[in-house]
Amino acid sequence: MKKKFQQCYDISEKNKTYLKTSSNRSKGIFPEMEVAKAHMKILNNHIKKNDSILDAGCLTGHFYRSFLKRYKDLNLKYTGLDPWSLHINEAKKIWKEDKNVKFIKGWVQKIPFKKNSFDISICSNVLTHIPSIEDPIRELLRVTRRVVLIRTPIHKISYRIQMVLNSKWFKYTKVKPKDEFDKKGNPRVYEYFDVHSKDYFESVIKKFDKNVKVKFIKDNFYDKKNINYKKEVKQKINATRVNSEGEQVTDLLIIPNHFVLIKK
Ligand SMILES: C[S@@+](CC[C@H](N)C(=O)[O-])C[C@H]1O[C@@H](n2cnc3c(N)ncnc32)[C@H](O)[C@@H]1O
Repeated sequence: MKKKFQQCYDISEKNKTYLKTSSNRSKGIFPEMEVAKAHMKILNNHIKKNDSILDAGCLTGHFYRSFLKRYKDLNLKYTGLDPWSLHINEAKKIWKEDKNVKFIKGWVQKIPFKKNSFDISICSNVLTHIPSIEDPIRELLRVTRRVVLIRTPIHKISYRIQMVLNSKWFKYTKVKPKDEFDKKGNPRVYEYFDVHSKDYFESVIKKFDKNVKVKFIKDNFYDKKNINYKKEVKQKINATRVNSEGEQVTDLLIIPNHFVLIKK
């Protein structure tokens, strides 16, 4: 990988917390995520025998376990893409016996595959954390033959939200709370939680392929008790929980998660 894409999410390169959780999910030790179940429900009408599937931003391939659980007989070919060796190396170890699985290091902004390499592509909880959705959407449309499914926050208007990180709450940065903003007032280390307007998101899709069909589906598939019971919800400041209104919340942010289903 020659080019490193500009993004805020580099902190996950070293962050072993997500890795451990994903690894336990991939091994079937931790339960399937609500978001994985929702992907399977939406894709159920679109999956065919021998389909090839790209999972962009795959961690250790925990979504593959969800595909296997429901579609073991369909001989699906799964490719996981992620920029970080930490994730890819662990994923390769976990899935080494499975001949239908591949893991590749790479960026959703420049997917290292030819046009129409996959029948279906998924990209879940990635676009909200990176600076621009244009390259990722162009690339996902380019490498996919039939269906792209993206999960990301969508609202009437866009918000650019930065969660400012410091060493008190996030052990992967050395920046102390007293230094968290530089002299110009910019955060030194941060993570985006961008919310995109439906209008902008759809216009980016249509810019690269005006013939596709686009459907926005609000993510209300989840079962509240399966999200809020988790130990990490109580321990981690940025773990997702469901509030009393039934909305998904990360610390004090309401995250209006949607699925964007794109059919070619
Ligand atoms: C919040 S996790 C989501 C994991 C999984 N897709 C899910 O929904 O459970 C974000 C994932 O995207 C990966 N990622 C971050 N930047 C990326 C990029 N530019 N291209 C592809 N993947 C990226 C991270 O390494 C991480 O595995």
